[in-house]
Amino acid sequence: MKSYIKYLKFSKAFQVTFNLSNMSLEARVGTLKLRNPLLLASGILGTTYSTLQRVYEAGLGAVITKSIGPRSRSGNPNPSVFALKDIKSVINSVGLANPGYSVFREDIGILIENKIPTIVSVFGENQEEYVEVVKGLQDLPILAFEVNLSCPNTEKGGTQIGTDPVAVKEIISALRKETEIPLWAKLTPNVSDILEIADAAIKGGSDAIVAINTLKAMVIDIQTKMPVLGFKRGGLSGAAIKPIGVRYVYDLYEHFGEKIPIIGVGGITRGEDIIEYLLAGATAVEMGTSLGVAYPENMIRFFQMKIKKYMKEHAYTSIQEITGGAHK
Ligand SMILES: Cc1cc2nc3c(=O)[nH]c(=O)nc-3n(C[C@H](O)[C@H](O)[C@H](O)COP(=O)(O)O)c2cc1C
Repeated sequence: MKSYIKYLKFSKAFQVTFNLSNMSLEARVGTLKLRNPLLLASGILGTTYSTLQRVYEAGLGAVITKSIGPRSRSGNPNPSVFALKDIKSVINSVGLANPGYSVFREDIGILIENKIPTIVSVFGENQEEYVEVVKGLQDLPILAFEVNLSCPNTEKGGTQIGTDPVAVKEIISALRKETEIPLWAKLTPNVSDILEIADAAIKGGSDAIVAINTLKAMVIDIQTKMPVLGFKRGGLSGAAIKPIGVRYVYDLYEHFGEKIPIIGVGGITRGEDIIEYLLAGATAVEMGTSLGVAYPENMIRFFQMKIKKYMKEHAYTSIQEITGGAHK
């Protein structure tokens, strides 16, 4: 409580000192306008929709739901999340646990009723499953579908769909035929050439590219001599992956220029990290691991203030002016 009061006092002093309250942080992702470029990444804060509403109200531009598939999935055995405190990171093997799209439709009522800008993350194990989910949700008033391409392709023996440019193009074009709602292809970093996969997604009709999902990783407990996760292998997120995410966004922006909106995600824990992603070429950013704390609201407000302070110090009047600044 003491530290919260200290935070409130600091935040007020910060706003007054820099006269930041009226600065606009409006962001654009293609044709979509968001009140700011800060988005909640998929899978964090789970499918508790009142929590998503809370973090939106604290100042996010939009929220992205946990990835939703055709049927309910309980995910992988516990423990499925393990914190790596020394590197401000997390390894997880949650494994796309979700209620399936028909239950999900009813669950997100609270977001729709309260007009919370919502992006729905979707996945499937093959093209038909992706289409089934999008078909089942496309009448909802949502901003976009984020297409999670990190799902294992059961038809190809478990390789990730997102590592195969042919599958990526086919899935995105099948979804494009099904819906007019914007599609954001979320790419896995576990590939040798991310530009080839991004090209395939754009050729298929994706409106934006989201980079990156978690990196393949593992942690072994040297006392038990066993992997710490029930599923043994997992994905790394948090501060440790930020330079990798920034590098991918930089490469994607260099490749596409301003034509294709890029949403940066991976390891954002400070306002400075958001600015770094924008300078690399992102038009918006997603935050996951860092918001999985008891009071994410404070962090969101702090991120906003840091961006405004930076804009004032560097005489930027819009987020669009910052995007791609590291390429000039
Ligand atoms: C516990 C956990 C669950 C996740 N679930 C999903 C998911 O359902 N769909 C998805 O596309 N990404 C999922 N992710 C990946 C995040 O959306 C994000 O891409 C990744 O964690 C990197 O961002 P961060 O470092 O800010 O967490 C999950 C990450 C974590 C840590």
